[in-house]
Amino acid sequence: MNWLAILLVFAFAAIASGTTPNPRLRIRFDDNWRFRRDALPNPKDGNFKWTWKVADDNPGAVETLPADLDQGDWRTARIGRDVFRGRIGFAWFKADLGAGARPANTVIHFETVDDNALVFLNGKRLGIHQGYADPFELPAGDAWNPQGPNILVVLVQNTDGPGGIMGPVYLTTPKPQTTDKESLPDFNDHDWRVVHLPHDYIVEGTFTRTADTSHGSLPVTTAWYRKTFTLPADYKDKVVWIDFDGVYRDSTVYLNGHKLGTWPSGYIGFRYAINRFANFGGKNVLAVHVDPTKPEGWWYEGGGIYRHVWLNVADPVHIRPWGVFVRTEVPSFEEASVNATATIDNATTAEQNAVVVFEIFAPDGKRVTAERQSVFVPASGHLDVSQTFGARHPELWSVENPSLYVLRTTILRAGEFADQVQTNFGIRSFYFDVNRGFILNGKVVKLKGTCNHQDHAGVGIAMPDGLLEWRIKRLKEMGSNAYRCSHNPPAPELLDACDRLGMIVMDETRHLGDAHTPKSPPGTGTDDLSELRDMVLRDRNHPSVVMWSLFNEEPLQGTEEGAQIFTAMRSTVRKLDPTRPCTGAMNGDWGQGITEVEDLQGINYSIGAYDKFHAAFPNLPMYSSEIASTVSTRGIYANDRARGYVSAYDINKPGWGETAEESWSAIGSRPFMAGEFVWTGFDYKGEPTPYGWPCINSHFGIMDICGFPKDNFFYYQAWWGDKPLVHILPHWNWKGKEGQPIDVWVYSNQPFVELSLNGKSLGIKPMPRYGHVEWKVPYEPGWLIAKAYADSGPSDKNEPYPNFVESGTGKVIGPGDPRYVKLAKDWKLTPRAVATAEVDTTGEPAAIRLKTDVKKILADREDLSPVEVEIVDAKGRVVPIADNLVTFKVIGPGHVVGVGNGDPSSHEPDKATQRRAFNGLCMALVGDSDKSGKITLEASSPGLESATITIQSKSSADR
Ligand code: GAL
Repeated sequence: MNWLAILLVFAFAAIASGTTPNPRLRIRFDDNWRFRRDALPNPKDGNFKWTWKVADDNPGAVETLPADLDQGDWRTARIGRDVFRGRIGFAWFKADLGAGARPANTVIHFETVDDNALVFLNGKRLGIHQGYADPFELPAGDAWNPQGPNILVVLVQNTDGPGGIMGPVYLTTPKPQTTDKESLPDFNDHDWRVVHLPHDYIVEGTFTRTADTSHGSLPVTTAWYRKTFTLPADYKDKVVWIDFDGVYRDSTVYLNGHKLGTWPSGYIGFRYAINRFANFGGKNVLAVHVDPTKPEGWWYEGGGIYRHVWLNVADPVHIRPWGVFVRTEVPSFEEASVNATATIDNATTAEQNAVVVFEIFAPDGKRVTAERQSVFVPASGHLDVSQTFGARHPELWSVENPSLYVLRTTILRAGEFADQVQTNFGIRSFYFDVNRGFILNGKVVKLKGTCNHQDHAGVGIAMPDGLLEWRIKRLKEMGSNAYRCSHNPPAPELLDACDRLGMIVMDETRHLGDAHTPKSPPGTGTDDLSELRDMVLRDRNHPSVVMWSLFNEEPLQGTEEGAQIFTAMRSTVRKLDPTRPCTGAMNGDWGQGITEVEDLQGINYSIGAYDKFHAAFPNLPMYSSEIASTVSTRGIYANDRARGYVSAYDINKPGWGETAEESWSAIGSRPFMAGEFVWTGFDYKGEPTPYGWPCINSHFGIMDICGFPKDNFFYYQAWWGDKPLVHILPHWNWKGKEGQPIDVWVYSNQPFVELSLNGKSLGIKPMPRYGHVEWKVPYEPGWLIAKAYADSGPSDKNEPYPNFVESGTGKVIGPGDPRYVKLAKDWKLTPRAVATAEVDTTGEPAAIRLKTDVKKILADREDLSPVEVEIVDAKGRVVPIADNLVTFKVIGPGHVVGVGNGDPSSHEPDKATQRRAFNGLCMALVGDSDKSGKITLEASSPGLESATITIQSKSSADR
């Protein structure tokens, strides 16, 4: 490429050679934290006898109890039971809390009322609580009658899904205020555990029936972290701050006993300047209190300092954190422009003359252009410095070739090297077209996306950078090109991985407006949109991010009030980034409220709404922000309520969802739909739809919580990917079912598929587009083979089959038509087997096999390798029903960080050195290494041949 700007030769040769050490220090602060988990609050239910009855459709704003409340059909109620069973409306609940003298500050604690609760004690209205997942307390006050009875009445409103009193209710007194003694520098933390970040302590718990199922059935408590460190004396003249990339949640941070601040969000990072309270030249203690007991969402959210912490040391005249913005424009592919803006902060009390140098490095690492400006930065103020470059024939960032450029911004002060920051960016053009969908660099790119939460087996939300990248690679392997960060901003390193690997991102803020409840109630303000602001500032340089999602399924989405909140949010976004559209995920009310003010319409589920909406709003581009919620358990082929499993045939979905086939048929066939985001790529803890306990994790994933593919993976891979594929389900180990018909499904993206059993052909079938083919096969042990045949028809991926045109009528006969096979034969297609799949009846489990695609890890105490554990028969075939218990041992500088097996009902701990296989597979995450060397994982199980695998751990010095 040629750059229009002239390459400058600097007097400051060291910069030009790029060898001068960066004067800014950014030190990972993840090591050696002392940690203490606080005791569980009394989680016991009050064991009251509850009854319930249906309430009027809309009892209105009840201030006093109806006179005839006791009449009617009162039934016994059980805590945790869904009394609504899909009904939207109201129900009364009643219980006698007994008698006895109680302290004046007695409160009634409700662990979970789903959704909203209006509470009365002895006829007196105590208060209302909106929200369906967060615990709350209401003071009993003078409504309490020591002689008894004490009749508690709760009017529960259900607006969606299940509803009722879902968690314990008990009388208690409010928790004493934290004394914060743990924050004091001299506090003795020697008996606290030493942990390294990222850390999620909730995942260390024991699955418990009474813990909130939607959040993963793990008890949630508060905790403390403390880190002791020294700061060199000469940092005194620098500006020092600490970045927390993510703490779940409601954190309070202290330095040397001084409170630096509180930060409610568990999802967006924050920072504190520490000069004021730091002890330069001596010991410092950073203490962090986390309180995850009030959730932000309705899924497993974990708890702890689960992303990186950084100590930053910079010159008083420095580039503001998140202060660089690179904008690219590609008016024609011959020529693009790159605009870089840097905000320079001056922490001195005098005006400062500085030289700002912008340099751009091409994807091959070569510096291609540079410019410098001499500026004056006001005393105790800041200055935005901007520079535009022209670029001829840039290497565009795309899904296939995610080319990354680097902007290096340097500040010189009085001829001295003062600060430097590197910013990755990509040059690409995109827009959403109302008829053609998403256009990237001039070409239609259908968004083949998944929604995802941020936890994984064995580690919970504490995902090291490498694991984030590994998951993105898995999704790409499936043919996915888009990722929705549902429903919160992700770790910065996840976006880095998406930039590097070519994964398009829908970035999403957690709350509509400045609410901190899972859903924003009426009256939500927009005075503090700092979380949204920070997400945009943090993420706007990532070429992978193409839209800002400002909400998901909010009760206010269809209202004027919702539109006002969205408008305020959108103008906050536009001030910081005018280059990307603002959207949201609406599960109803399309056409009203927020639809009227957004740039791009996201529709959750409801495939029947697409055509109507497109016709009614021909100028608003559309996509499916969420779809499917297909439920399946890996390797299971019949629903089993007691064990909490759902069949992996693509047939199970909740009332609001779609099967994989329904979802992609609807999207793939509509050019105006820019694409879809399937709920979800991976299973996650919590939300164990369609069953509750004993399930502890969701079944929505195309992959399980370890990243093992379920059968739907191959459905998506067939239609999203670009390689010929054929896949057979189920497995072929049906001992005891000899002679009984088994449904055999075959996925393929080729026009014809032939299935054979033990060498006998069961026939060739045409493969319907976006569909599958089925046979009923009487079971006999042996082997099933599916062959997918290509034809000599068009090879265009989007038009993989030839259509025949009936002479005379002109009618098009596609693969769904019974005459298609005959016509295809007459057309003399030469079947060419382009893909083959085989499923065998295996022998008994005989050995363990270990494999991983991460053979090298960093010795940074964080990185890990996800090792896949397979139980195989004597011939090396994975035994698809094996459940052997596997024990792990590590030799060398590392540990087993966690384990998993994808069983949504397993109550085995994530933190362990053993795991049962689930349908032939389990996983050990191996890492936590602090020095270079060979890490050998040994896996053994009684009666099976053991296996070992070696992973190389490398310290950065050795790399
Ligand atoms: C959606 C919601 C997701 C998840 C999903 C389960 O309505 O946006 O967060 O709860 O349902 O199907």
